[in-house]
Amino acid sequence: MTRIALITGGASGLGRATALAYAGAGLSVVVADIDGARAAAVAAELQGKGHRGLALDVTDEAQVASVFALVEREVGPIAVLAHFAGISGYTPDGLNPKIADESVANWERTMDVNLKGTFLCVREMLRVRRARPVPHGRIITTSSMVAQSGGINGGAAYAASKGAVLSFTKMAAREAAPLGVTVNSISPGAIDTPMLRSVMPPERDASYIQSIPMGRIGLPQDIAAAALFLASEDASFITGSCTDVNGGMRMQ
Ligand SMILES: NC(=O)c1ccc[n+]([C@@H]2O[C@H](COP(=O)([O-])OP(=O)(O)OC[C@H]3O[C@@H](n4cnc5c(N)ncnc54)[C@H](O)[C@@H]3O)[C@@H](O)[C@H]2O)c1
Repeated sequence: MTRIALITGGASGLGRATALAYAGAGLSVVVADIDGARAAAVAAELQGKGHRGLALDVTDEAQVASVFALVEREVGPIAVLAHFAGISGYTPDGLNPKIADESVANWERTMDVNLKGTFLCVREMLRVRRARPVPHGRIITTSSMVAQSGGINGGAAYAASKGAVLSFTKMAAREAAPLGVTVNSISPGAIDTPMLRSVMPPERDASYIQSIPMGRIGLPQDIAAAALFLASEDASFITGSCTDVNGGMRMQ
């Protein structure tokens, strides 16, 4: 039976690359993003048939419930939730605020998208899988290298939100295990996506890669490859883990 994957933040960057990888591996992909038009465009470029693109704001509890219900009803049971939706926490004027200058509004917006969005989507996945179990259920959350290193490109709200994603992922892994669902996090380093480029111009690459043992900025496909493995049936004994994909920039 074709496995169904729901990819949040799938209209861009890491989510889009993962959608391409999953479709290439024969999964049926639902691309969900706050930008529904771009989600539909990504779904249209995927290999194979039956892919869908949907609008979803992951901070909206009712929308999360209705999108999961729609997918379960019209596409089928979701085997893989790959949750990439996230924001950088930079202010709309492109600034990375220091804690002393951070606003409550920007702090809350960052926590809302990165942490509450993760909670709402994982909660909904656990609810639907509890109601209708599937074999080889998988949840993949997205943290960040800065969660454990302290921010370089990320500010405190972003780092704190991504640190909380790691803790939440471990709790979710314990609770999902009886359902046969694994829950793992990917922790990207600097990966060349629109988000990275919104905070780091290419002119900084040469100095930045001095601190990356593999000597390059990551590509979205580097993350998609990890997400593909974690989604696979072969990854059935890996849960509660964090996969660092950062070219060796931070080793624990
Ligand atoms: N690119 C990197 O270097 C890097 C490093 C560490 C972590 N990450 C994390 O990886 C994930 C993907 O980042 P990316 O680099 O692909 O960024 P991106 O900006 O290219 O893609 C993020 C996607 O999330 C969507 N999105 C934003 N808010 C949303 C919401 N409320 N509901 C639904 N969708 C929403 C955006 O529309 C966009 O399509 C993020 O969680 C990010 O924090 C990225």
